[in-house]
Amino acid sequence: MVSPAAPIGVFDSGIGGLTVARELMRQLPEESIIYFGDTARVPYGPKSPDTVRRYSREIAAYLRERGVKALVIACNTATAHALATLQAEESIPVIGVVEPGARAAVTASRGGRIGVIGTLGTIRSSAYERAILALRPDAHVVARPCPLFVPLVEEGWLDHEATRLVASEYLTAFAADRVDTLVLGCTHYPLLKPLIAEVLGPGVALIDSAEQTAAEARRVLAARNLLAPAGSGAVRRWVASDAPDQFLRMAERFLGAPIEGVETHTLG
Ligand code: DGL
Repeated sequence: MVSPAAPIGVFDSGIGGLTVARELMRQLPEESIIYFGDTARVPYGPKSPDTVRRYSREIAAYLRERGVKALVIACNTATAHALATLQAEESIPVIGVVEPGARAAVTASRGGRIGVIGTLGTIRSSAYERAILALRPDAHVVARPCPLFVPLVEEGWLDHEATRLVASEYLTAFAADRVDTLVLGCTHYPLLKPLIAEVLGPGVALIDSAEQTAAEARRVLAARNLLAPAGSGAVRRWVASDAPDQFLRMAERFLGAPIEGVETHTLG
């Protein structure tokens, strides 16, 4: 039996999933969290679905052994390739970022013309298109990868001419498609929200899956009476599979708050 006081396990290919952890901390401040960032094997974006599934299973097993009450897959690529597998194999609830993002996009879109950006793996999987079309079959969905955004964000170039140039290159096609909504389908992209908004102009709603995923986690936990009781005293642990110093240095940009320490655990 899992206890409501048990932590939520959150994982990502690396540091980007801290944007989801940030929202979980904001919306569910009583919850303890164990975050695993697979910094030894990042990026997942260009890797094959089988490899990403194998990595995701290893991380899920690691978090399960630590007694988590639910799993949040903060990584879009891992959600696209491994959500169904983990939901079938794990006995605890497993929440991904794609469905909540798709739902938010459908709610926000006036005309049903929805763009999606993500890693190569996420876009090739068509996971967002499927999720959007399941909710709104008449939607017109266009999805394109923006692989250079991840290294630019990690470099901290959030408001930089080079990033603006890359964004114009990637995003002008969406203007021609007349999308009214764009899903930021990658952990790193919410940090580029102001720049993307500037490039696309005010007519396009930008959807950040992190917010919706935290709301979904709350709903799922509440439905199973698994929300942490008030005054539980949230404990947060940050684990990286490599380069903890780098994780620590970059964490604040993604999490919006500094963290005190990072543990290291090697997988595979
Ligand atoms: N976390 C990944 C995602 O949201 C981006 C980084 C990577 O490619 O591993 O898709």
